[in-house]
Amino acid sequence: MPVLPDFKLETFFSKWEFNAKYHMCASDMESMTLQELLNLSSDQDRENWNNLNFKYIETYGSPELRLAVADSYKKLSSENILAFAGAQEGIYVAMHCILQEDDHAIIITPNYQSSETIPASICEVSGVGLEADNNWDLDLQKIKDAIRPNTRLISINFPHNPTGKVISIETLNDLINIAREQDIYLFSDEVYRLMERSEGIRLPQIADIYEKGLSLNVMSKSYGLPGLRIGWIASQDLELLDKMEKMKHYLSICNSSPSEFLAVIALKSSANILKRNHKIIENNLKLLNSFFTQHRDLFEWNEPDGGCIGYPKYLGSEGVMTFCERLLEEHGIMLLPGTIYKSAIGPTPNNHFRVGYGRIAMQDGLRKFQEILDN
Ligand SMILES: Cc1ncc(COP(=O)(O)O)c(C=O)c1O
Repeated sequence: MPVLPDFKLETFFSKWEFNAKYHMCASDMESMTLQELLNLSSDQDRENWNNLNFKYIETYGSPELRLAVADSYKKLSSENILAFAGAQEGIYVAMHCILQEDDHAIIITPNYQSSETIPASICEVSGVGLEADNNWDLDLQKIKDAIRPNTRLISINFPHNPTGKVISIETLNDLINIAREQDIYLFSDEVYRLMERSEGIRLPQIADIYEKGLSLNVMSKSYGLPGLRIGWIASQDLELLDKMEKMKHYLSICNSSPSEFLAVIALKSSANILKRNHKIIENNLKLLNSFFTQHRDLFEWNEPDGGCIGYPKYLGSEGVMTFCERLLEEHGIMLLPGTIYKSAIGPTPNNHFRVGYGRIAMQDGLRKFQEILDN
């Protein structure tokens, strides 16, 4: 098996995330303290928390977690849910359980790198690019053109990292029809779901509407609880879930029981947490919209459809990499240059950068950014 290449984004984050003074490209929502989370729970939950032990738990996930997660799907029950240590473990396991050497997979670009490099370490992969000129939309003709007789999987991610694009329900349904005709798995990374600008554009979860669909989700992004490391895959394909569970025996074996417990509390308080998080996004987007309007000569920006990251274009002559490096090294402002998203299989724009608007501290960074540009 080929060695996986360095994960460019995670390497960049390892170097800078905890050192940069102004972190302005985070992909998660503002987190909360343990106390704040427990305050959302019932007296009984708090008592159970105090009496929790540290035993191994079920590889599939605790019955409580699987039930709370299943409740967020329209047609699924606990048996359709397999818990993972974050979304990342889910991507690794799903790709290894679905794909074999002679298969072919189609992945959108730009992408969260592991969704490309893990399948590419197993079989041939083709990229289908989302392009700024096409409003980052998914071109289904390009998907059709990329399909081969041995295509086994198409991997999508909406709301999209890094553009925040949400495709229309019509496009999603057409994509499902294309996949169904050829008996292809659809792996849908839905980790930014629930953070759409309006509920009207929220897509259904693929596992609810396609028999060969896998929905990937996690507590990291819309709930702002990445430290729990609790993710899951939902699917109607019980045989595949079983195969994935067996692979998980070689990886994390099971999740941390305190983390699953806290994830259940968060899922039960979903409405509260999401309301707070939408408010943060709304405030931050107002500031970002005004900033980018003021600096139209330097940036091209359209408010993203969903998620808590966006992908403006830098119009300055020195290129986005130099621009981001200068901001980081001279002023401690951390943006994510689009060069990090460079793909081996499809086009990625050269002069964009990622900005994150899920955290309250973005506002300090933006103030500093404004000050630098004013000078
Ligand atoms: C699209 C996408 N999928 C998966 C992940 C991995 O999520 P986690 O850190 O919860 O494993 C990320 C993290 O940034 C992501 O952006």
